[in-house]
Amino acid sequence: MRLLIQENSDLVAKWTADHIINRIKEKAAQTDKPFVLGLPTGSTPLKTYQELIRRHKAGHISFKNVITFNMDEYIGLPNDHEQSYHHFMNEHLFSHIDILPENINIPDGMAEDIWTACEEYENKITEVGGIDLFLGGVGEDGHIAFNEPFSSLSSRTRVKTLTDDTIRVNARFFGGDVSKVPTTAVTVGVGTVMDAKEVMILATGAKKARAVAAGVESPISHKWTVSALQNHPHCIIVIDEPAAGELRVNTYKYFKDIEKNNILPISFIDSH
Ligand code: GLP
Repeated sequence: MRLLIQENSDLVAKWTADHIINRIKEKAAQTDKPFVLGLPTGSTPLKTYQELIRRHKAGHISFKNVITFNMDEYIGLPNDHEQSYHHFMNEHLFSHIDILPENINIPDGMAEDIWTACEEYENKITEVGGIDLFLGGVGEDGHIAFNEPFSSLSSRTRVKTLTDDTIRVNARFFGGDVSKVPTTAVTVGVGTVMDAKEVMILATGAKKARAVAAGVESPISHKWTVSALQNHPHCIIVIDEPAAGELRVNTYKYFKDIEKNNILPISFIDSH
């Protein structure tokens, strides 16, 4: 596992967007096959999406040969609902780049036969050759996608009941009204994320510090589903300084030193 501690969330976004763009270009140089990108929602990836849009508009990257799979979607919210993840992705990324609509995949939270839809989602990922890079965030309780604490670490796409904690945290998007937050969601499993060739998890802000420390330093446990990524051969966690606040001093120093060439200087923001 790699851990990149950037000075602030702007630099997290700059580094992450650049990494995604490089990976898309590297694959394009080798094959005509599309790049398969897994994507999250939430407030954490917003700056990365803004940076991807900026780089696209500057002519640095095309998404025409990219297929995306989103991590999750609430059950029971129509696609055009303001808080559906369909709406979120369209508003914050897809409508600003040249991705082909037929290449966008988001779990269908309105499917009549939701369990068959989950199976089909997994099959589709397999059919396109698997996910090249899965980008994700992390919940305050260490969940990835909607794999809440004590989810199976080999789980696949399925329906999950959201914990009270997650509902409370996500109520901020529903005008603070807990009763408006759906109580279930379709989510890719921890196993689905683990199957990706590369995984990149973003965490910013002090509220994520406990989850980061547990994910990086604790033994692998279904209590913190993000910790499963310790077993992934190519996982990078990119965080800002506040999110590093609960790491042991030695862990912090170790990653600062070993990744010193990958930490962007503050001056990078103005010059790029
Ligand atoms: C939700 C999403 C996760 C996301 C998490 C953190 O639970 N299902 O994919 O990582 O929220 O969101 P935020 O980035 O807003 O803190």
